[in-house]
This record gives sequence, C-alpha cells and structure tokens, in this order.
Amino acid sequence: MPNRFPQNFLWGGAIAANQVEGAYLEDGKGLSTADVVGYVPPEERGSLDELLSMNHAKLDEAIHTPGTDQYPKRRGIDFYHRYKEDIALMAEMGFTTFRLSISWPRIFPNGDELEPNEAGLAFYDQVFDELHKYGIEPLVTISHYEMPVMLTTKYNGWASRELIDLYLKYAETLFMRYHSKVKYWLTFNEINCTLKAPFLGAGILTEGLDHPRQTAFQGLHHQFVASALAVRALRRIDPGAQIGAMLARKLLYPYSCHPGDVLQAQSENQMALFCSDVQVRGEYPTFINRVWEREQVHVEFHREDKKILREHTVDFLSFSYYMSSAVSVDPQISELTEGNLSTGLKNPYLDTSEWGWQIDPIGLRVALREMYDRYRVPLFVVENGLGAADTVEEDGSINDDYRISYLARHIEQMAEAIADGVDLMGYTSWGPIDLISASTSEMRKRYGFIYVDQDDQGRGTLARSRKKSFYWYKKVIASNGEDLSQD
Ligand code: BG6
Repeated sequence: MPNRFPQNFLWGGAIAANQVEGAYLEDGKGLSTADVVGYVPPEERGSLDELLSMNHAKLDEAIHTPGTDQYPKRRGIDFYHRYKEDIALMAEMGFTTFRLSISWPRIFPNGDELEPNEAGLAFYDQVFDELHKYGIEPLVTISHYEMPVMLTTKYNGWASRELIDLYLKYAETLFMRYHSKVKYWLTFNEINCTLKAPFLGAGILTEGLDHPRQTAFQGLHHQFVASALAVRALRRIDPGAQIGAMLARKLLYPYSCHPGDVLQAQSENQMALFCSDVQVRGEYPTFINRVWEREQVHVEFHREDKKILREHTVDFLSFSYYMSSAVSVDPQISELTEGNLSTGLKNPYLDTSEWGWQIDPIGLRVALREMYDRYRVPLFVVENGLGAADTVEEDGSINDDYRISYLARHIEQMAEAIADGVDLMGYTSWGPIDLISASTSEMRKRYGFIYVDQDDQGRGTLARSRKKSFYWYKKVIASNGEDLSQD
C-alpha cells in the first residue's frame, strides 16, 4: 500500500497545563486565570456565554477561596506529580510529538516580577528531558487559556498594552532556557477566541466597560504584536526552531444555496481566519475595516506595529478542529446546537456528540484545503477529538469504539487532504489522557486514550488505565496512519 503520510509526519496528543497539572500553588506557582473558574453543575448552567464569562465579584470570591473543591482546574489530573507515568504511556503508544503548554504563573507567579521562578523552570526541564528520553519532540504552547490572575486584577489582561512586554519577557525566558530542548513553539492557543470569550482567551473582564468589543479587538491587537515579537525573539535566540500560530477552526456552512446564506457563511469564515491573516500574511485583511466600522471599533496602533506584524510572521499554522456548524438568513431555520466555544445552527446531515458538537470529518479536509490554498505554509492539526462519557466495565475495560470511529474518520480525511496537495506537519489529538474540560470544567467529558479515575467532584484514585482506543492509536502510529481499521 502506498504510504499516504510523509515519513517524518509527527503523531501525538495535546494537553494544556491548566487542565492537567494541578499543584496550583506548589513550588511558588501563582494563581492563574484558569484557577478562578468555578465548577457549575449541568442543571445550573445557563448559556455558553454565561459559562465562559467572568465578573469582578466572581473573580474576587475565587481569589479569596482557598482549596480545590469548587475549582477543578486547580487540581487537574495531577500531571505535575505523575508526568513520568503519563509520558511513559504516551511513549508506549509511539508518540513522536507531545503538545503541552507552560503555565505562565509557574514561571512568573504574578506576571510582572523581575526574575522568573526557578522551581517552575526546573519542572519543565524535567518534563522535556522525560519526553526526549523516549524520542518524543515537545510542541509547546506559550499561553494556553491562562495567565497570572494578577495580570487581570492589575491590568485587565490583554486590554492593556503593558502585557506585550510582560509576555515577551516570559517568552524570551522560555526560549533562553529551553532552546536546546524545544524545536516547535506556538504563541497563543486559539487566538481567535479572544473575541468570543475575552476572559478565557485574554484575561479581560468586560463587565462595566462602555464598549466590550472595542476592548476585545484592542486586546487581540496586543496579542498579535506580542506574538510577532516572540517570533522575532525566537529567530534571534534559536534560528533552527519553528514557531506557529494557533486557531480554533470551526467551519461554517451555508445552510442552503440561498445567496444570502452563502454570503453570511463566507463572512463568518473570513472572521474565523482573520487572525491567521494577520499572523501568516503579516497584515490585517481589508474586510476587517468594514467590520470595525459597523461595530464602531477603533483599534489603536503604535507607530511600529504594522512593521512588526509584517516582518515577523509565523513559520506554520496550527489549529484545532472538532466540528462544523451552519448559518442561515432565514429566521425559520432556528434549531441550534452547541459547539466549541460557540452555538450554531444544526446541520441535518451531521450527527452530534453527547455535548451537541456536530461531527464532520469531511469538514477537516475542507478546512485543510482552504487554509493551505490561502496561506501556502505548512499546517498542523494540533487538536481534534471526541468528548464523551466513558463506561468502565466490571473487568476494568473501556470500550470506546465511538472515539475510535471519530478519530479514524478524521485521520482518513487528513490523508485525503495530503493527497490533495496539502503540506501537513502532524497531528496531535486533543486530550490523549482524560483531563478537565476547558469550557465546562467537567471531568466527565473525556477525550483520552488513557482513562483517569476521577469524577467531576474530584473523587477517585487518579489511577490511569488504557482504553480500547489506546491500542488502536498505537497501531495507527506504528503504521504511520495506514492502518485505521477498527476491530
Ligand atoms: C479547545 C481548547 O478549544 O477545545 C482546549 O484549546 C479544550 O483547551 C478543547 O479543552 C476541548 O474543549 P472542551 O470544552 O471540551 O474542553
């Protein structure tokens, strides 16, 4: 059989510090913006927007409430103490890469100290050494949905331009320390999420602001400049390394062939790609001017900003892909379903996950072709997977055929996209080990090949066990993506 994936294709999984590490105040770590997000039981949850929002009162209460009880991201899955066992399991599956993020408040507890926290730096040295022991290449996200909470209370997060220098200092500290151990970097996780969820993506509290959209766009601009300056710094410190942007790519389809639906889908897809336009092409797209005009947004640029964005574009574009959604101008079409940080129209041709996310493997091929056509830089699928509630059988086995089916169909479409001419560097499925959900803070919503014995309330032994998908993924990697069969 011809090999459809390149020989050097990177296979692995992706996690984020705030969803796995726990040890939320250990070894000098400061409180993060993820540590203050409380658990809300499903029956009390309002809309997704409410779930993702933060206000001053909630924040203040969380900062003054010690312990992990109501705040699952403070406990994670105890990766901080169990990383050796966890990495050994990833190695057993044959991972050649592992995407993880660094906890900013482990390195700079408040975000604006003069010197980094040595214990925090030492922790990631050990993690990277452990990965290299098994020949696993780390892919490191510098900022994945967390920052020192002090940066919110003192500066309102990325709303303030001061964050650029603080981030740059943090990024340079990482590049100087780890240049011999890390060859692949990502500047911000799902940077486009700042517009949808300013607290999650940028530590910004919009409560009480005159013009929240203005602040979100301004915060995003600060992130663009910081990202470009990090690119510049890495090229100086470690010219052999590569650095990428990272987007949440939720594909939007026109619900019908009505030209109005097509136009709306196009507009929303343009917005979904506007961040990569800036980070890959080095300039804001022209369509954004009309959006700003309509929303009365005036983004403030400093004199050098355009030059910085133009001169320091990323080497590759990575993205998460879980699902697609549809849009319509017809008010009669109104059945909604949940999605990754968004709610959208239900597509009658697609099944949904238990959490309402629409499963669309072909959409991944569409997204890959579209992005490669648009940018002509290597792409990297750094998140993809199925959040599902698993059942542990009496004999301890977990038969997650639904997850195998989801992943197999998506990997199949990646192979098709490569055959279509797309330059794809690798694939890291989301949450190879069960972890705390970013949006709902649940443990019940599991993505892993490795099961973790813990429930939403934090009860359980934290023991790790292999699901059926563990053996399946091992076989996929061993065959370089050729054997996707499900027995
Ligand atoms: C992505 C995030 O949006 O989706 C991850 O980068 C997140 O952090 C993943 O966990 C899945 O979303 P959720 O809400 O199911 O955890």
